[in-house]
Amino acid sequence: MAYDNEQIAAAAASLETEFEQLVDKQAILRSKTLGSLYEALRTLPGDQRASFGKELNALKTEIQAKLDAAKDVETALPPIDVTSPMDANAPLPNFLSSEQGSTHPLTQEIERIVEIFGRMGFVAEESREIDDQFHMFESLNFPKGHPARDDYDTFMTAETDKDGEAYIAPAHTSTMQNRVLKKYHENLSAGEAIAAVVPDRVFRNEDLDARHEHTFYQVEGVYVAKGVHAGMLVATLQKFLEEYYGRKLEVRVNPFYFPFTEPSFEFALSCPFCSGHSGLDPESKAIDSGSEAGMTNSGGQSTGCAVCSYSGWIELIGCGMIHPNVLKAADIDPNVYTGFAFGCGIDRLVMMKYGIEDVRHFESAKLDFLRQF
Ligand code: PHE
Repeated sequence: MAYDNEQIAAAAASLETEFEQLVDKQAILRSKTLGSLYEALRTLPGDQRASFGKELNALKTEIQAKLDAAKDVETALPPIDVTSPMDANAPLPNFLSSEQGSTHPLTQEIERIVEIFGRMGFVAEESREIDDQFHMFESLNFPKGHPARDDYDTFMTAETDKDGEAYIAPAHTSTMQNRVLKKYHENLSAGEAIAAVVPDRVFRNEDLDARHEHTFYQVEGVYVAKGVHAGMLVATLQKFLEEYYGRKLEVRVNPFYFPFTEPSFEFALSCPFCSGHSGLDPESKAIDSGSEAGMTNSGGQSTGCAVCSYSGWIELIGCGMIHPNVLKAADIDPNVYTGFAFGCGIDRLVMMKYGIEDVRHFESAKLDFLRQF
């Protein structure tokens, strides 16, 4: 901008140079050059003051506009590859700008799951990423040296607690059962039930393949009150799954073993993709190697699809009636109260909902995959 007053024109030029050199652009407002113009304004004879003041204001507005523009540039700076040391010759990776981001598909589904259980009266709690052996084992009725401890392929820390025991990256969300039972203990004396779900991350030292990840998600459910029985467990899980998939499903309950539930079950649902369980022996290994289009058994009936390994059933949830020792470990009298618990694999639930063929996509950070949600 051109200024008529020579002093102001000269100051504008030198302010321009100063501005370019400044790292902290705001400091231009404290510049001596600008200050001396205000000084001059005060000492000017009255007849010159109005025009000088007007130009000085224009200069100030020009500087402010520059500051605003500089701020926009600062926030629009290109992202920096944080995987330093960087290779100066490598092209920048394909960054996802923050405006284009979205919540992870598992986070979205966890919100839906919590919302469904919320409507059924369950509160939600968070688990943790490192826990002790009491919560992983003792409180769940795995005494020291119990062989079932080996069923859980855990990651343990080199560091130990005061009893000399390693910490564990939780291999299931059941590590939260004791805490939830204690936290809501007073519900029982108030005549209410303990009803909580714990959706969170769990870790296992697995051999990885399309169905097994070292890091995955489970939702634990705990329900304790007077007179709770296994029929309520089955109905609760069936209702949850039907809400989640938005359709009627058939369920199957097989006996199983967990130290912390008695009796224990493995809960399967009819495959939501093919419902192809009719007339089929689901335990038959022969149906594991069928074609993508689905196989036909000797009776000529459809026998499922690739998602359910041509069995028509999907094993999804470990569950059972809470063992009296688990209730006792939380100071709950098993002669008065009974309850059920379940642990449902969230990744598998979501894979079936969207036909995702490989569990490893979830932790892969692949944008092609994530952008679909
Ligand atoms: N924690 C068990 C597992 O991960 C599942 C389970 C939870 C079973 C609660 C019974 C009750 O295998």
